[in-house]
Amino acid sequence: MAIRKVGVVGLGLMGSGIAQVCAQAGLPTLAREVDQALVDKGLGRIKKFLDDGVAKGKVEAAVRDTTLKNLTGTTKVEDLADCDLVIEAIVENLDAKHALFASLDKVSKPDTIYASNTSSLSVTEMAAGTQRPGRFVGLHFFNPVPLMKLVEVVSTIVTEPAVLTEVKSFAAAIGKTPVSTGDTTGFVVNRLLVPYLLDAIRMLEGGVATREDIDNAMKLGCGYPMGPLTLLDFVGLDTTYYIANIMFDEFKEPNFAPPPLLKRMVLAGHHGRKSGRGFYDYSQKS
Ligand code: 3HC
Repeated sequence: MAIRKVGVVGLGLMGSGIAQVCAQAGLPTLAREVDQALVDKGLGRIKKFLDDGVAKGKVEAAVRDTTLKNLTGTTKVEDLADCDLVIEAIVENLDAKHALFASLDKVSKPDTIYASNTSSLSVTEMAAGTQRPGRFVGLHFFNPVPLMKLVEVVSTIVTEPAVLTEVKSFAAAIGKTPVSTGDTTGFVVNRLLVPYLLDAIRMLEGGVATREDIDNAMKLGCGYPMGPLTLLDFVGLDTTYYIANIMFDEFKEPNFAPPPLLKRMVLAGHHGRKSGRGFYDYSQKS
């Protein structure tokens, strides 16, 4: 595999998970955030996940130690110059992503591959804004990244076939199962998942069943690890609202339209687990 060094930009929940799985697979991984406090926070999140894994007997102490050794933090985009693959996991904002790739383009090697972890923006639009549209793909990971086995590999009409092959081998090398998808909003998973989650909210809104009964129905009736309202709290109501709006904008189909209850909860700051309250109350939980 030609990908020997990875750069990850953005060390939030997704970026830190992505950096962790790359480093855990033995690849030197450079993780970039805008300031040192965010670098420390992201690397601290990875250390905690690995420490918890060791405590649960799921991760060997030696694996934790080599993973942490393979990881370096930086605040400088220039430090990513010699990475073979740079994965972007910053805020879902096209202007911010364009600006990042423009600054990367000035320093990266000509054959460096760029990947975006976007869940809803157009990979083609991002690729077209760079000097290397043929060497640009989407790599859509799932939360929690270290535990979820899937990565969607998104190619555009200009992605070079050799790049796609390279990126799929990379996905396999970091322990993920790649599925290939074209660049349509939501790819495979969110195209199916988002209408399902929105329908669960519509069902609650319409008084069809309680939140617990909706969740239990899908957990116990379909074997899903989480019910849809618990999953909404886990993913974030603000994130889901944002994605649903982009999908509705793209397809103009009513099943992608965010229900009024979702909008009201987002406006009220009930964003799910991260804010302490969503469909359930997390304020008392650690
Ligand atoms: N290190 C290593 N392994 C760990 C670990 C750690 N720190 N913490 C947990 N694990 C392991 C556990 O030991 C367990 O392994 P086992 O199955 O072999 O026993 C496994 O991971 C599950 O952990 P837990 O038992 O502690 O927790 P749960 O059984 O409650 O599972 C979950 C948690 C994996 C999050 C599960 O509930 C789940 O799969 N939920 C659905 C998540 C999902 O759908 N994610 C996708 C969201 S959509 C998205 O991301 C796309 C975006 O664009 C919106």
